[in-house]
Amino acid sequence: MSALRGKTIVVGVTGGIAAYKAVDVCRRLVDAGAHVVAVMTEGAEHFIGRTTLSALCSEPVQSSLWDEASPIPHTRLGQRADLIVVVPATARLIGAYAGGLSTDLLTNTLLATRAPVIVCPAMHTEMWEHPAVQDNLALLARRGVIVVEPDEGRLAGGDLGKGRLASPERIVAVVERTLGRGDLGGLHVVVTAGGTREPIDAVRVIANRSSGKQGYAVAAEAVSRGATVTLISTVELATPPGVQLVSVETAAQMEAAVQSAAETADIVVMAAAVADFRPTLTVGHKLKKDDGAPSIVLEPTPDILAGLGARKRPGQTLVGFAAETSDLVANAEAKLRRKNLDLIVANDVSASGVGFQHDTNAVCLLRPDASMVTISLTDKRSVARAVVDIVVEIRAGLS
Ligand code: CTP
Repeated sequence: MSALRGKTIVVGVTGGIAAYKAVDVCRRLVDAGAHVVAVMTEGAEHFIGRTTLSALCSEPVQSSLWDEASPIPHTRLGQRADLIVVVPATARLIGAYAGGLSTDLLTNTLLATRAPVIVCPAMHTEMWEHPAVQDNLALLARRGVIVVEPDEGRLAGGDLGKGRLASPERIVAVVERTLGRGDLGGLHVVVTAGGTREPIDAVRVIANRSSGKQGYAVAAEAVSRGATVTLISTVELATPPGVQLVSVETAAQMEAAVQSAAETADIVVMAAAVADFRPTLTVGHKLKKDDGAPSIVLEPTPDILAGLGARKRPGQTLVGFAAETSDLVANAEAKLRRKNLDLIVANDVSASGVGFQHDTNAVCLLRPDASMVTISLTDKRSVARAVVDIVVEIRAGLS
């Protein structure tokens, strides 16, 4: 379960061009189960429509201090909130909040709350760097306000520089961390992703078609549910915010990284496609065509997951993936037993839209007690959610 489920989150939206991104933040918070109330400043209404936010959020947008239906909205909202996030926060809002000025509903709400507050500044680089803005932010930070620093990038009007609003993904990750423990709170989850690459010579490798997307989705899901996540990956996808990335290339490097991370891991999810064989002799230079076709002799790689299964600590949960092209359930069950796993995620990679390189997946989730859950074709994040749900169920049975 997400750390956000059932939490009341007030999203303050101020008048900056990045206000449109608040729409995405609200949608993500609602999707994660939060009760979201948007408060717009007068300036924000120049950039986005109330209707858009009202339609997406859990209640109609609020903006006025003088709303007759609720005689004291300026304190009610702040008292009700489990968290307030201001996205984007303009220099004016930051200045008013730092100075304790209650000029509109949003600043009143900020002053009337005891909930954690996150501000996400967005403005032109010159404004961002101005000592007045920096001093105000430092003052807010000293008072315990969390500041999500803007990114560098393209700004309104085509300028480049620091001041671009942090991505909605990063903002939601900070909200999740601030609200604390989801159902994986306090747990260390290790996830592997991507196909290993085994060198033949200085430039050539034996690789496979795994994209790593399913592993990244599991890492993103686990961190959003409060886990500390180590992602051991062979691919260069965007690292989910809050996830610690360890980059590797070969099965041997992945084994070393997994063994080290697994020492403290409560849960290991091996979504990587590890090569089963590697060339025995890799030469340090490029093999030349004129030397003729080389004979590549292969040797087995270590089975990382089987190694973990053989040394499984009490309370540790091991999840494997099984990529199959035939006899899906029988083959996956055999791997589940051989590797001493708690769960195996079996996918038929010969089916259309499933597994390797796709954004979607269809899987069977098998447990040692022969229980089986089938997830038909859906996005990889939904598959990740189902996997984590079952891991949580398995661990609940342990306690
Ligand atoms: N795995 C591993 N180390 C290996 C090979 C596989 O840790 N050298 C893990 C994978 O990450 C996956 C599970 O074992 O979680 C099953 O991998 P898969 O490639 O489906 O099966 P194999 O055990 O390699 O067997 P086969 O290739 O015969 O299907």
